Amino acid sequence: VTVRTDAPVDTDLSARTFWAKPFEEREKTFAWLRDNQPVSYHRPYESTLVPPDENTPGFWSLTKHEDIKEVSRNQDLFCSVKGVLMEDFPEVVQVASSSFLMMDDPDHNRLRSIVSRAFTPKRTKTMEDWIQETAKELVDEIVDLGEGDFCELFAKHLPGRIFAHFFGVDARSEEAHQVMEAAERMLAWDDPRAAAGRDAITTFAEECERIHDVALAVAEDRRENPKDDLVTWVVQAEWEGEVMDDWEVASFFSLLGSAANDTTRHSVAHAVRLFDENPDQKALLLEDLDGRLPNAIEEVLRHSTPVMHFRRTATADTQIRGVDIKEGDKLVMWYCSGDRDEEVFEDAARFDILRANAKHHLAFGAGGVHFCIGAALGRLMLQAGLREIYTRIPDITLTEGYEIQVNNFMHGVHAMPVRWTPPRST
Ligand code: HEM
Repeated sequence: VTVRTDAPVDTDLSARTFWAKPFEEREKTFAWLRDNQPVSYHRPYESTLVPPDENTPGFWSLTKHEDIKEVSRNQDLFCSVKGVLMEDFPEVVQVASSSFLMMDDPDHNRLRSIVSRAFTPKRTKTMEDWIQETAKELVDEIVDLGEGDFCELFAKHLPGRIFAHFFGVDARSEEAHQVMEAAERMLAWDDPRAAAGRDAITTFAEECERIHDVALAVAEDRRENPKDDLVTWVVQAEWEGEVMDDWEVASFFSLLGSAANDTTRHSVAHAVRLFDENPDQKALLLEDLDGRLPNAIEEVLRHSTPVMHFRRTATADTQIRGVDIKEGDKLVMWYCSGDRDEEVFEDAARFDILRANAKHHLAFGAGGVHFCIGAALGRLMLQAGLREIYTRIPDITLTEGYEIQVNNFMHGVHAMPVRWTPPRST
């Protein structure tokens, strides 16, 4: 069951060089694995966080939609408390950044439920107008430029401004900017451009600390001056009979800040890229923007899978597809592979905004207890952003220089230069 190395494709998911390849190139490997070795064992990742030694175990790769769902939905057998990423992090760093993402129920649920009421589809719906207004302001600010890096100009500010509101800081403040930038660099620890000369672990830890600083300052204020907002709920909420200490609050906001910002930023960039690469689909979208946008967003999420994996650890010996899994083994659920599984998505490589089952994608997880708490908000931000862009600057086109991050976790866009016709000159 160790991954075959005689395959006609490169099967070494543990090499950093693999994660520097273009996404579609990597998909050839996942396609081969799905067809030939859907459950395969790999050597540990060439991590720069905690470099593996001869005692570091490898991991199982799950590449089929069905297997990923099964593992995701069985937290008794496949737990999160031992780590949720392919790479190991030093424990202190993990605890500082992951909060309930790295817990199992009942602890997970106790913490998650403190904030889940802020993100219900119903409550999210009440923010629709305000989110659309934020998207409009952002386009107002850039529309006359006619060109620039889409990520810098737009993609990162959309979730950045909206999340600042949840954080309780002014959307244009230095603090909001700090959280936005830190979230991006924190989740790109393997990319030398995000690291800017630092090693991976320092990059992750320093950026996480930046989010902590902002969170703790706001938390301090809300303890004195409670409001009806997320930070107040968190500082007042009781967990195991006590309110959370600073450390727990900071970890909580580090999770939220990174989960909300970076994911949405990359998703909106992928949307614009996919419509640029597929003019027929763009024409379909523009024919009926409001009608077709919701399903188009599901298809963007399926096709691009911004969060490519999460990991679980087996709590007992078991089998998947007849393969023996031992207690303590790591299992990586490749959402990016499940989203291209031909058994679920016909002609899966094709970007098809009318695809009937696009929403069966795994971009928000595979239906287990950790399913993305911000899915409704993420969809709404994408809808507002894309509606604004394709109404105001529909001829937006990519120019030279699209680059993705070196990253085994996020399908992250490093740079995406674009050009459009400013409305005044049309
Ligand atoms: C399009 C944007 C987004 C994508 C692609 C995305 C993706 C994901 C994925 C794949 C998971 C893990 C699911 C699992 O393991 O079952 C997750 C969890 C999570 N997401 Fe999102 N997310 C997005 C937006 C957001 C937003 C806007 C928030 C804001 C609150 C958010 C907050 C979270 C949190 C807190 C978790 C952990 C949930 C838990 O452990 O119970 N996400 N997200």
